[in-house]
Amino acid sequence: MREIEAVVLAAGKGKRMVSALPKVLHSICGRPMLAYVLDTLAAVGVSAPIVVIGHEGEQVRAALGDGLRYAVQEEQLGTGHAIMQALPHLEGYSGTVLVVYGDVPFLRPETIETLLAHHRSQGASATILTDLRDDPSGYGRVLRDANGNVRRIVEEPDASPQEREVREINAGMYAIECGALRDSLHALQPANAQGEYYLTDAITALLDGGHTVAAVVVASGQEATGINSRADLARAEAAMRTALLDTLMAAGVTVLDPQATYVHAGVRVGRDTVLHPGTVLEGRTVIGDGCAIGPGARLTDAEVGNGATIVYSTVTASTVGEGSRIGPYSHLRPGVRLGRFVEVGNFAELKNATIGDRTKVHHMSYIGDATVGAGVNIGAGTVTCNYDGRTKHHTIIEDGAFIGSDTMLIAPVRVGRGAVTGAGSVVRREVPQGGVAVGMPARVIRRRPVNDAS
Ligand code: UD1
Ligand code: CA
Repeated sequence: MREIEAVVLAAGKGKRMVSALPKVLHSICGRPMLAYVLDTLAAVGVSAPIVVIGHEGEQVRAALGDGLRYAVQEEQLGTGHAIMQALPHLEGYSGTVLVVYGDVPFLRPETIETLLAHHRSQGASATILTDLRDDPSGYGRVLRDANGNVRRIVEEPDASPQEREVREINAGMYAIECGALRDSLHALQPANAQGEYYLTDAITALLDGGHTVAAVVVASGQEATGINSRADLARAEAAMRTALLDTLMAAGVTVLDPQATYVHAGVRVGRDTVLHPGTVLEGRTVIGDGCAIGPGARLTDAEVGNGATIVYSTVTASTVGEGSRIGPYSHLRPGVRLGRFVEVGNFAELKNATIGDRTKVHHMSYIGDATVGAGVNIGAGTVTCNYDGRTKHHTIIEDGAFIGSDTMLIAPVRVGRGAVTGAGSVVRREVPQGGVAVGMPARVIRRRPVNDAS
């Protein structure tokens, strides 16, 4: 498709969200709703649309980054007023402009293609996208004449009871010839129930001026859904999640209970992996083949190798090697890199630590800021004492070491290859390769005689 211009309206406050965050930055399956709209435009070849920002605009700009063109709408005086702010960017352009609202995240690239094809074949000045909804409430209604031609779009607050009965709604996506757009915007007046400059009135202005306005009805009901409230957001989240899980299942993932499994867009899961209920996969999480995840697992930006098992645990920004077993009740904080066939068990917390193959960290241990070799056994209650109140220090435990239960490793410290620490030892100095460090055993004191009951 040849390069065309597109304007995305994202300046609104989103009053109905009742939020400090601009509406278009509210997330659906982990991504701002606006990101979906931008992806869809990119898929039809519009890589640098003009984004109209306004309310908390700097937040929107920071979230989207460079590579887009921004127009600022200082005061949110309506969708027609918003598009006026984009006009300087369209100086000298005379082709078709796509206008999309930033709160319509389900739009598909195919639909934009259909809209543009229809727009061209009809030789229309503007083509609007519409949808037939069982419940049209909240949307602008598309009014047609007896011949079926679009007559105007009426917003719900301005509509008569009969007009509200109309089920065809304005989906919030238009193809408009740039010259016609410029001319029609001059005519806008905020003479309506909301006191705003409506882009929808520009359509009426075009018709009044003798222009052709065409319409395309979207294929699927979901697609035209606009997100205005938290309830809309929750429904959108559920619909998007269902679609994401369907895609995973089609690619060979078992999802035991899709109603109780939560995934972000962009998460990847390998074949024959089983997702148990209460699994939450977030961010850029990637899971290999043949894993068992959950019940009750929250993975954020995690990378999990083939055949791993994670039960009732939290893994954040960490790597879990092939065949490793995590949980129940383990917490991998950022910066953990587990090798292959590692075991991390009950109430173990790990942070910024590299753990070698086949090492075991069970029962209430804390391993932070550490490099642990392969085949190490970390006894119950072991703690790397990494913080002296000012600075974090590193612990090194080499291959094959045996760390007795309740060992306190006062970092910086090293335990050499194959070394052993006794239960309860407090290790302050390096234990050399093959060395043994034993703590102070409790003294046994017999103070008083015990009556022998027998
Ligand atoms: C709008 C349409 C309605 C349509 C519906 C589709 C108008 C007047 N109404 O209604 O016909 O059925 O979308 O979802 O166009 N925005 C700005 N600046 C503003 C106001 C809004 O940039 O001053 C942006 C918002 O950020 C949002 C989009 O425009 O992304 C739509 O605004 P919104 O207030 O949600 O319009 P609706 O009432 O939903
Ligand atoms: Ca809306």
